[in-house]
Amino acid sequence: MEVRLAECAGFCFGVKRAVDTVYEQLKTGKTIYTYGPIVHNEEVVKELEEKGVKVIHDFSELKDLIQSEQSAAVIIRAHGVPRAVYEQIEKCGMECVDATCPFVKRIHNIVEKESREGKHILVVGNPGHPEVEGIVGWCQGPVTVLETPEDVLAYEPLPDEKLCIVSQTTYNYNKFQYIVEIFRKKGYNDSVVNTICSATEERQLSAQRLAKEADVMIVIGGKHSSNTRKLYEICSRECANTYFIQTLDDLHLELPKAFRLVGITAGASTPNKLIEEVQNYVRINF
Ligand code: F3S
Repeated sequence: MEVRLAECAGFCFGVKRAVDTVYEQLKTGKTIYTYGPIVHNEEVVKELEEKGVKVIHDFSELKDLIQSEQSAAVIIRAHGVPRAVYEQIEKCGMECVDATCPFVKRIHNIVEKESREGKHILVVGNPGHPEVEGIVGWCQGPVTVLETPEDVLAYEPLPDEKLCIVSQTTYNYNKFQYIVEIFRKKGYNDSVVNTICSATEERQLSAQRLAKEADVMIVIGGKHSSNTRKLYEICSRECANTYFIQTLDDLHLELPKAFRLVGITAGASTPNKLIEEVQNYVRINF
């Protein structure tokens, strides 16, 4: 039986880069902090905690650390953070290791520059998401977060106001196009920068391609991970034998001899180690 992993599965480029950065920094012997959990996966965070990595959540925790820590570094995760966090880390005299995904950093640079030039920044995305909070925190002037096309329809800029529109990296492409169309029709003085990252879409498309061919599809990821659930939905439409598992313990496969191809994919926060474990298990046992 052939076991094949989807071309894009598991960590995206930015998250992998951030997790690798934590492991590299651990080698320096310094005390390592991450500003927020480095990835939304309990297993990964727990493993790093066992190696001594500590998670801090806000300024106040940072302040408490200054007195006690001399040789410490704070790692900024892939989603990025507001500019004020960097200033705070510097004030505390701690080293800042920036693992912000370059695609997110690009948005920070755009909104900082455009807002300095007097534009009102409109961020299309979820206002409660840390990435959006980070983007907002790089604006040097007025900024508004619009989550849905309805928000956009209801939005009225000030007369003669220049606008710059960017999107959260994981925003749905079609919805963003529709929003841009609404702005076009309203005839505002705006510039639009599409800052959506293709990692999510690529992961979904490669899972779909594989599910079309596979006799069985295994989707690995957290039960509460919305991107993993989406992968499961997509694969189930193409392959009737699709299984959603969190860890290898959830996998109870009975595969008929006639089955030829087992496909595997994984959500954005699923570590490689777990994907390999599942892959090896299926290879050895079937
Ligand atoms: Fe990942 Fe960076 Fe895209 S964190 S989803 S590669 S913006």
